[in-house]
Amino acid sequence: MSEPTKILLEEHEIPTHWYNVVADMPNPPAPPLGPDGQPVPPEKMLAIFPGNLLEQEMSAERWIAIPGEVREAYRLWRPSPLYRAHRLEQMLGTPAKIYYKNEAISPAGSHKPNTAVPQAFFNKQAGISRLATETGAGQWGSSLAFAGQMFGVAVRVFMVKVSYDQKPFRRSMMQTWGAEVFASPSDITQAGRDALAKDPENQGSLGLAISEAVEEAASRADTNYALGSVLNHVLLHQTVIGLEAKQQLAKIGEYPDMIFAPCGGGSNFGGIVFPFLADKAAGDPKAKNLRLVAVEPMSCPSLTKGVYAYDFGDATGYTPLMKMYTLGHDFMPPGIHAGGLRYHGDSPLVSQLYHEKLIEAVAVPQLATFEAGVQFARAEGIIPAPESCHGIRACIDEAMRCKQTGEKKTLLFNLTGHGHFDMASYDRYFSGALDDYDYPREAVERSLQHLPKVG
Ligand SMILES: Cc1ncc(COP(=O)(O)O)c(C=O)c1O
Repeated sequence: MSEPTKILLEEHEIPTHWYNVVADMPNPPAPPLGPDGQPVPPEKMLAIFPGNLLEQEMSAERWIAIPGEVREAYRLWRPSPLYRAHRLEQMLGTPAKIYYKNEAISPAGSHKPNTAVPQAFFNKQAGISRLATETGAGQWGSSLAFAGQMFGVAVRVFMVKVSYDQKPFRRSMMQTWGAEVFASPSDITQAGRDALAKDPENQGSLGLAISEAVEEAASRADTNYALGSVLNHVLLHQTVIGLEAKQQLAKIGEYPDMIFAPCGGGSNFGGIVFPFLADKAAGDPKAKNLRLVAVEPMSCPSLTKGVYAYDFGDATGYTPLMKMYTLGHDFMPPGIHAGGLRYHGDSPLVSQLYHEKLIEAVAVPQLATFEAGVQFARAEGIIPAPESCHGIRACIDEAMRCKQTGEKKTLLFNLTGHGHFDMASYDRYFSGALDDYDYPREAVERSLQHLPKVG
């Protein structure tokens, strides 16, 4: 085993710029639309976002400089290590080489601080003292709570009720970093009160929690909204993952044949694959056969079973309409354990690239993802977050295909987070209490009947 297990970079090799995939897309991104069906003027979004982040949201510049203060905060955990999964390869008996980028080492335990830190920084720079947000699994909420502390910005989090109940220690973590946390639906917003009036047992969804946070931000001048995924500027910030991974692979003379990443709102997927997509766009022969695979749960299959249409980003219809793969904004996914993947839509950038067949998607069942996570933990030691298990599942499936064919492919996946706060889910898996849930086509179709009419 002479080849290295960890491929490391120095702090000075933290990227100086984020990569903006919009510069290399075959077609410009479809604009967000207002209720009148017209593109939303940027001034309207200023009610909830600072101008500097809106500029990034709309930008078509290929490279956007990372401010010194953000790179300084990134140094707390970046560059993240790239691992060669020697032990997993041996366990599988595959001729494929498996690499993973370990984003679990951030203070919050996932990739989410890569964007939480710049979002807190740019809001502070714009004179904002408070941020409202939603969280599913609790990873994003804790990341923003941490980032708020870095720059002295207060944070209020609406946490999807099913996760709030399943993960009390995620809540304590947010409180440790000084954030206020409410179970969503809550009774402190109109959107929450309406949802509870309809169904007092409502378990919440990301879409509903977004409605609550947006309502808070829109109704207070000192408060802005921060989103942990989906939007262009979020995916932009996450490209530090792929930019570092490229440098690390180049150090050992490698280039991937396939990249896998779990896909909820699309931020870590975009973060790891976009810098490689840049090589494809530039006609780099290395990237000619490169395949980029988004992995989603069968119970919330927005790319693989949704439609490409304009829809609201939240459950209530407060957000602009975004063109994306969606299951319908009132889609209520079952309470699966990968809370961060329970989102009805997907990033407009990822959706457009999927629609244009530049990337691929697969949906995997819940039990098989835990099986892959346990296999990974037993080989490599790290216990992955349930969301991360999705990428691992698809990567192991490909490694096993390579075993059949004898192909020596180079595979890379994004280990987006550790599962230390998800042990109750592992417990349920071990005790046989978890089920698979293939979202029925008829339920998707029912929800899609409520898509907003555009044009
Ligand atoms: C560990 C982890 N991985 C993946 C995701 C999926 O989100 P995204 O698609 O935005 O990367 C989440 C979301 O909460 C997460 O917590």
